[in-house]
This record gives sequence, C-alpha cells and structure tokens, in this order.
Amino acid sequence: MYNFENKIAVVTGASGGIGAATASALAQRGAVVVLLARNGTALEHLKTEIAEKGGKAFCYAVDLARYDEVQIVSAKIKDDVGIPDIIVNNAGAGRWLALEETSEQEAVEMISVPYLSAFFITRNFVHAMLERNSGHIVNITSPVGFIPIPGAVAYGTARWAMHGFSRFLKADLSDTGIKVSLVVPGKVNSNYFRNNPGSEDRIPTISNIFRTLQVEEVADRIVRTIEKGRGDSFLPMPIGLTIYFHRLFPRIVEWLMLRTGWKRKK
Ligand SMILES: NC(=O)c1ccc[n+]([C@@H]2O[C@H](COP(=O)([O-])OP(=O)(O)OC[C@H]3O[C@@H](n4cnc5c(N)ncnc54)[C@H](OP(=O)(O)O)[C@@H]3O)[C@@H](O)[C@H]2O)c1
Repeated sequence: MYNFENKIAVVTGASGGIGAATASALAQRGAVVVLLARNGTALEHLKTEIAEKGGKAFCYAVDLARYDEVQIVSAKIKDDVGIPDIIVNNAGAGRWLALEETSEQEAVEMISVPYLSAFFITRNFVHAMLERNSGHIVNITSPVGFIPIPGAVAYGTARWAMHGFSRFLKADLSDTGIKVSLVVPGKVNSNYFRNNPGSEDRIPTISNIFRTLQVEEVADRIVRTIEKGRGDSFLPMPIGLTIYFHRLFPRIVEWLMLRTGWKRKK
C-alpha cells in the first residue's frame, strides 16, 4: 500500500471543488500538500483547515495561465518545500461556447489552463523526479476529452489536450519510475458551472442518465489511483462504459450527443 506520510503533493486548482477536496484527502493521509490557485484567501483558508486537522500545507496564489508566474512558483516550491512526489494537474476553467462565440482571449486562456499549465508545472519538476526515479502525475480531464459534443469547442479541445498530454506523458515516462494517470469524472457538484456561466445548459441531455458526483468521491478516486499505482480511472462507472462503447461504436455515441446536445438558434 502506498504510504502518503510526508510525501509532497502539488495540487493545482486547490482553492475549491475537486482540487480542494483532493488536497484535504491527501493531507489527511499524511502528505505535505502544496496548494495552487489564484484565490489566495481561499488557499489560506484551506491551509488553516488542514493545519487544524493536524496536516501540513503550503499555499501559493498564482495565475497558472501566466507562464512567468508558473516559473516563479515552481522555483519557490523547490526552495520552500522540495521536489514533489505527486502532482495533481486539476486546475481548469472555461465556458462552453461555440466557435463563433469564443473570443481570442478566451481561446488562449482555455488552452493555457488546464493544458499548458499542466505541461509546464510537470516539466518544471520532472528533471528532479527523473533523478529520483519516482513520482506520480495525475491529470484530470472530462468525458468531453474523449467524446465530442456541440457548443463547447475550446473547452472540449483543451480537455482532449489533457487526455493527449496524459497518454503521451505515460508513453514518454514508461521506462522510468514515474507513474502517470488520468482521472475522468462525469458531472461534479462543484462551483464549476457557477464559475463558468452558461456551460451547464450545453451538457447533452443524454448525460442526465449519469448521476452527479460529489467532489469527495472524485478526490477519493484520485487518492486510490495513486495508491494503486498505474492506471486511468473513469467515474461513475457508466461514464467509463460510455467511453468504452464510443471506442467500439463512435458513430452511435456521437449521433446521440448531437441529437441531445446544444443547437444553434436558426
Ligand atoms: N465540475 C465538473 O463537472 C467537472 C467534470 C469533469 C472534469 N472537471 C474538471 O475538473 C477540474 C476541476 O474542476 P472543479 O469542478 O473543481 O471546478 P472549480 O470548482 O471551478 O475549480 C477550478 C479550480 O481551478 C482553479 N483555476 C482556474 N483557473 C486558474 C488559473 N488561471 N490559475 C490557477 N488556478 C486556476 C480555480 O482557482 P482560482 O479561481 O482560485 O484560480 C479552482 O481552484 C477542471 O479542470 C474541470 O474541467 C470538472
């Protein structure tokens, strides 16, 4: 069984939702958690909460969409805390918009976080992780990183990028002691849809058959993925089955998404 005691775990997007729940779960098991997000007040609050429960946390307010800030924060983490044993690339934002609704700025922001920030954070620590020849990188993406839907072009493309990043990274590090996993939750009861208004209306109605997850369930799955070692994880189970079915019969699943998904007003 994986021993989390004193392992250093960097969690991006830890000011709320899945990231905050994951950081708490890791701290509860004895990991030293490094909390990253823009909202410094929320991070300080979580750090205090973790300390009150006997855990240890560091926090850094950072805009992960800014390459210069990612570089500075990575150097600070190395100096203040050390080289991570675990990186959870969870931070993400972005409204579900059709191509013509997406401004240049939003398109750039959506590919910057989650994808480029995950790439740079991981790259900044990977040399030292390779020297130590151990570690686990967990990437988070969405089912739309596997199955295209209408009305969410930049969001979906960025989640495909996270999926691709995880698969390529896994291949790239396959001859090392560093493990790579992808965790793919369906709809989660976080502030995501409040933080990214209008997005919820674009979920294809066929998705109503899948239950909404709680953030703690996703955090628990992330922790179990690290405990288990290698492997990707899809939750709840019917999401995993749908993605598997899509691999076998892509046209049927994509037809269902189009039939029940967002449509342009004519
Ligand atoms: N909610 C769902 O239904 C669902 C389903 C599948 C996958 N996911 C994915 O899971 C991840 C977490 O989502 P969630 O549901 O926990 O959403 P959330 O509650 O909105 O949390 C998103 C986190 O990302 C951080 N973040 C966003 N932009 C950032 C930036 N530029 N720099 C630093 N941090 C940034 C936010 O912190 P600050 O605002 O403080 O920066 C926040 O901590 C996302 O990548 C999302 O796509 C969500």
